[in-house]
Order: sequence, then structure tokens, then C-alpha cells
Amino acid sequence: MSEHAPEATMGRAFASAIGADALDRIQAGTMRTVYRNVPFFKSPFDISLYLQLLSRLMPRTVIEIGTKFGGSALWFADMLTAHGVADPAVLSVDIEPLARFTDPRITFLQGDAKRLDKVLPPDLLQRCARPLLVIEDSSHHYPETMAVLEYFHAHLQQGDYIVVEDGIVSQLSGAHYRQYQDGPNRGVADFLARHEGAYAIDTALCDQFGHNVTYNPNGWLRRT
Ligand SMILES: C[S@@+](CC[C@H](N)C(=O)[O-])C[C@H]1O[C@@H](n2cnc3c(N)ncnc32)[C@H](O)[C@@H]1O
Repeated sequence: MSEHAPEATMGRAFASAIGADALDRIQAGTMRTVYRNVPFFKSPFDISLYLQLLSRLMPRTVIEIGTKFGGSALWFADMLTAHGVADPAVLSVDIEPLARFTDPRITFLQGDAKRLDKVLPPDLLQRCARPLLVIEDSSHHYPETMAVLEYFHAHLQQGDYIVVEDGIVSQLSGAHYRQYQDGPNRGVADFLARHEGAYAIDTALCDQFGHNVTYNPNGWLRRT
């Protein structure tokens, strides 16, 4: 396990081309963003990048680890419907779910990112319609990041995606972001090194707006 922030993975620097001042202002706006009046913590870049991915991949199942208030689960469900995906399904897991609404397309589950076998057992994952889009957006600490990546590694099929969110915390200036100890980027680097050849970084998404102009630097991963 790497103890320090990795500079690069697969020959790609993690550093985002978003300037420091702009990034702090974008983050302030992101934390105020709502979708259909539910808080929805996605940056404007990533809202656009997910739309590119959804058009291309047409996932029939989205699994997110980290629900919070459910804004992203609702947005993904609506976007799958808007894209004409038949019988879209969103499974959203949180250790402390706070969603206060229901939606027939969304299943909210209580569970720990470090014990996904309990909440998303293999037989359930086997029944999920493919392609699958998995989003790790839980604690942003290294152990949870690695636990989610390793758990899904056994269940992803060629062409499925797993997105590791919020590696950008390493570039945010607020002192409280240091608590994450660069968990997402360290997780991505170690996971890719461990499973050499099994994943491709989707550089078209990472770099659509400039090098890693996303909250998920080098974190858009396609199972090859
Ligand atoms: C960044 S928020 C999720 C935001 C949401 N996906 C969105 O975009 O609107 C992170 C969530 O992860 C949850 N979380 C933290 N540690 C977790 C763990 N070990 N297992 C599952 N969820 C966890 C927190 O309770 C919190 O609700």
C-alpha cells in the first residue's frame, strides 16, 4: 500500500488542470447544487462527463456506494430513463442512508463499503442487467476505496465501468480535505498496479475539458 500521494498512474499525472482558485470556487458551488430539490454532489464537469458516458455505455444498472441524500441516485435514474434504457435500475448503498423519498427505479440499501458482500452478494450482482456502471463515492478514505474496487473486480465484466470519485480532494485547499490522505488517488494507483492490463483509464472522459478536468482524476475505469 502506498503511503504517499501518487503523482501518476499508467503514465498519467493525477494533477488536474483546474486552477487552484477556480477549483475552490467550483467546489463551493458543487456543495450547493441540488437536483429536483435534493442535494446532488457532482461537479459541473462530471455531470457533463457522466452524460457522455451514459450515451455511450447505456448502462442498464448503476450501483453507487455513497448515497447521502439520494440526489445522485435520482439523477442517474432520470438520466437512464431519458436515454431510453429499458427497466433502469439504480442500487445505492450507504452506511447511513439519508434519502427521504422513494422511486420505483431506485433501491436504497444500508451497508458498509468494507463489507459489500453482505449488502450486494454475488448472486444479486449476477442478476443485475449489464452493462454495469459502478460509482465509488463513499468515504474517500483509502481502505474503503480499495475495498470497493477489489470487491467489484470479481464481478465486473468486459466493458463495465467503475468510477472512483473525488480524487480531486488532494487539490482542494481546505485543511479538512487533508483528512482523506489522498485516499481515492492512492486507491486508483494501487488498484491499477495490482490488476495490470485489466482496466483502461478512459482518457477521453478524463481529459474532455483539459487534463483531468474532473473531480475523478484517472478515475474513469473501463474493465477490459
Ligand atoms: C460524498 S457523499 C455521497 C454523495 C452522493 N453520491 C451524491 O453525489 O450526491 C458520501 C456518502 O458516503 C457515505 N459513507 C461513508 N463511509 C461509508 C462506508 N464505509 N460505507 C458506505 N457508505 C459510506 C456517507 O454516509 C455519505 O452519505
